[in-house]
Amino acid sequence: MTSSPPPHALPGQPAADPLANKAQAWSALFNEPMSALVQRYTASVGFDQRLWRADIAGSLAHAAMLAAQGVISAQDLADIQRGLAQIGADIEAGRFEWKLELEDVHLNIEARLTALVGDAGKRLHTGRSRNDQVATDVRLWLRTEIDGLAGLMTDMQRALVELAAQHTDTVMPGFTHMQVAQPVSFAHHLLAYVEMFSRDAERLADVRKRVNQLPLGAAALAGTSYPLDREGVARALGFEGVCQNSLDAVSDRDFALEFTAAASICMVHVSRLSEEIVLWMSQNFGFIDLADRYCTGSSIMPQKRNPDVAELARGKSGRVIGHLTALLVLMKGQPLTYNKDNQEDKEPLFDTVDTLAATLRIMAEMVGGITVKKAAMEAAAMRGYATATDLADYLVKKGQPFRDAHETVAHAVKLAIAQGLDLSALPLATLQGLNASITEDVFEVLSLRGSLNARNVLGGTAPAQVLAQVARHRARLQG
Ligand code: ARG
Repeated sequence: MTSSPPPHALPGQPAADPLANKAQAWSALFNEPMSALVQRYTASVGFDQRLWRADIAGSLAHAAMLAAQGVISAQDLADIQRGLAQIGADIEAGRFEWKLELEDVHLNIEARLTALVGDAGKRLHTGRSRNDQVATDVRLWLRTEIDGLAGLMTDMQRALVELAAQHTDTVMPGFTHMQVAQPVSFAHHLLAYVEMFSRDAERLADVRKRVNQLPLGAAALAGTSYPLDREGVARALGFEGVCQNSLDAVSDRDFALEFTAAASICMVHVSRLSEEIVLWMSQNFGFIDLADRYCTGSSIMPQKRNPDVAELARGKSGRVIGHLTALLVLMKGQPLTYNKDNQEDKEPLFDTVDTLAATLRIMAEMVGGITVKKAAMEAAAMRGYATATDLADYLVKKGQPFRDAHETVAHAVKLAIAQGLDLSALPLATLQGLNASITEDVFEVLSLRGSLNARNVLGGTAPAQVLAQVARHRARLQG
């Protein structure tokens, strides 16, 4: 905000610029200027000015269509184009004076246009309302942001895939209930997140289709009496279609809800990964280390290196989920059509975009800075009898029914616990005491790599399968 609220013109003293005084901005109907408190309370220009590019693009397309339809003259169009070009350049250069008393980005730009080019500026709003204008601007803006986010989601997936590619043979314990369950490769674990982020990217692409529909032409709520070419405006602005009901066009914010829902789900994925990074880096796991540049120290404990980025990313997921809740609650009680409540859609939406973008960017970078402590991962997989299922499967192959094999292995684990040994360290004779059909080849089955290799089913953790997944993802993420 470059200006503070100016003194209001006294009643009966019209301001020189009709839009500079709110009492005059609407109509002669108003007998007194707006209260200063109301002005501050209702203004959105402090945050919606970031829609300026979309606002100018929408106005240019609207004006060109008005001229093509013979609603305004070619000269008016030329004046509007000249004025908006000047305004765009001024905003870009930080020279534009945003005025709180002009409430929002739309009125600020329109007032300046009129100041620059005169009557043509006043004709721009023909057949248009701020209701369809703001809905158009937000959709245009969000579409651009979605395209940026899609790129960041690709980067995130690439970082995970490239780290995975180095670790198809790095064994770690897979967990259920946070208890050691079965050995998996670190690559396999990372690729689980790639699946999540690839679904996020798909969801975003799907949301984009419904974002990319043109409200302009709905005017205030009922459509307009001017012969507008809505399809032409949609084509000019790159919209895939035109909102088909004027009431819905000005009141619908589903696209913002859907986007924020998709963003929330993505942030939940980031949060889960962050949680694992924090755990893996703790001394009790010691699975990974993060490059110093992604760690912070403690002001009191000189030995500390904290994974603050991952913790903060986990924390910021709460903020985005909060925005989704805010938007849902914002919409739920609104009768058709536009209500001023809708102005409250912007800050949650903007912050969702900013938070998701910043988080994906830093997480992708940080994943590239992970060092894997293979020996510690493998040692952890050796604790907890992670290959017990493999022994049961071995016995099944020897002819024992699975439920019986399960019981036999429970005895084997009990013996191993009593002797403080891994299953693979039990003497063959001990194992044969439990089931006579066990032979020397059991030890390959009980090894971590034997266990991994055995899971050679589509989607399984066998290195051959994981390498195929790495190749599939690399091909998918190319270009
Ligand atoms: N600043 C308003 C918003 O963001 C623009 C639309 C205002 N329309 C109206 N009828 N007051 O929603």
